[in-house]
Amino acid sequence: MERDPKTIVVGVTGGIAAYKTCELVRGLVKRGHRVKVVMTEAATRFVTPLTFRTLTSEPVTVSMWADAPDARIHHISLAEEADVVVIAPCTANVIAKLAHGRADDMLTTTALASEAPLVVAPAMNVHMWRKPVTAGNVATLRARGAVIVEQVSGELACGDVGEGRLAPVEVILEAVEAELVRVRDLAGLRVLVTAGGTREPIDPVRFIGNRSSGKTGFAIAEEAARRGARVSLVTGPSALPDPFGCEVVRVETALQMRAAVLARATDADIIIMSAAVADFRPAIVASDKIKKADAPETIALERNPDILAELGARDDIRAVLVGFAAETTDVETNARGKLAAKGCHLVVANDVSDPTLGFGTDENRVLFVTAAGTERMDVLAKRAIARELLDRTAALVRSR
Ligand code: PMT
Repeated sequence: MERDPKTIVVGVTGGIAAYKTCELVRGLVKRGHRVKVVMTEAATRFVTPLTFRTLTSEPVTVSMWADAPDARIHHISLAEEADVVVIAPCTANVIAKLAHGRADDMLTTTALASEAPLVVAPAMNVHMWRKPVTAGNVATLRARGAVIVEQVSGELACGDVGEGRLAPVEVILEAVEAELVRVRDLAGLRVLVTAGGTREPIDPVRFIGNRSSGKTGFAIAEEAARRGARVSLVTGPSALPDPFGCEVVRVETALQMRAAVLARATDADIIIMSAAVADFRPAIVASDKIKKADAPETIALERNPDILAELGARDDIRAVLVGFAAETTDVETNARGKLAAKGCHLVVANDVSDPTLGFGTDENRVLFVTAAGTERMDVLAKRAIARELLDRTAALVRSR
């Protein structure tokens, strides 16, 4: 079937990997897209505009001040035409400019003016990549909704070995395609997500907590927002920055999390409880730091409310309810038990006995458990798990 051609604005910045952008552009053209290339001045030192002009049959823009092909303001018209803006390779310098909203050349001006999804494929020297300032800029872009196509490790053009190589062209192509077909299937829906681990104070400086980083819940919240949902994220302490476009409520304890969740639950269409909520809290919280000499032999605990079970039992909550199950044995059986006991429509089960997966890691292996059956997923990045989960949750919403 013939597809409507989409307009992809390809930004090229000044790095040796710019020669690989020729393949990227060819790939996009082959897939039937209209490709418009914008180069930084530095990029033209590596590849000529003529190369891209020949590959795309479109004018290539470098300067803000060159004659535009029509009477419109060129960076604005390009920005508006774009269905996706992809910058590959993207140098540390251009990442910094994008992160700080600087617009001092045709490429950064177009990127800033565009409402289209932004795909960034970094490539640079390993030491530049590892600098905290670069990591911070990448995190800022990601938090604002840009798709970062992770660079890969290997031998770099400068002779160093490490991270910094441009991702394979196929991977960048897929990232662009994924943005083009990104569904806004959650538009108009309210999604409530919990993330991170709660902390239960013993005294003003000590607490009972767990290893949850918040990565899973933050990825779900971010993905739901990208798909058009109005998202509230209730999270225990986490070092992660607020995901773009979400209401973020930061709490400490299970009781605070319960209050924040219950305040939003009746309005929600989907509730996803990925937080690791402490089942117990110290029965007495000392108001001053407990001195070593006065330390009790034991700490008496009392049970925290089970927020998920409470939601599942309430008649006034109409949301599709998704629970998580962190298990170390009999993962599927225990998850199925939680599905029934907590009144969930879907339980995401993970085996947290493997230290390389689950708590704090970037990847996980999960099972999706519903009344209809169990799906076993491969090891996937938490972002990919978020996508898969929301696909299934959106289908549950539609089937009601
Ligand atoms: O944050 P990350 O580092 O990415 O780690 C992700 C994760 C390992 C925390 C996540 O994948 C996960 O397993 N989350 C659930 C952890 C958990 O508390 O599991 P559970 O089996 O103890 O609880 C079952 C369900 O009940 C969960 O949805 C939990 O949010 C909920 N619950 C539990 C206790 C409680 N008092 N109230 C609850 O609502």
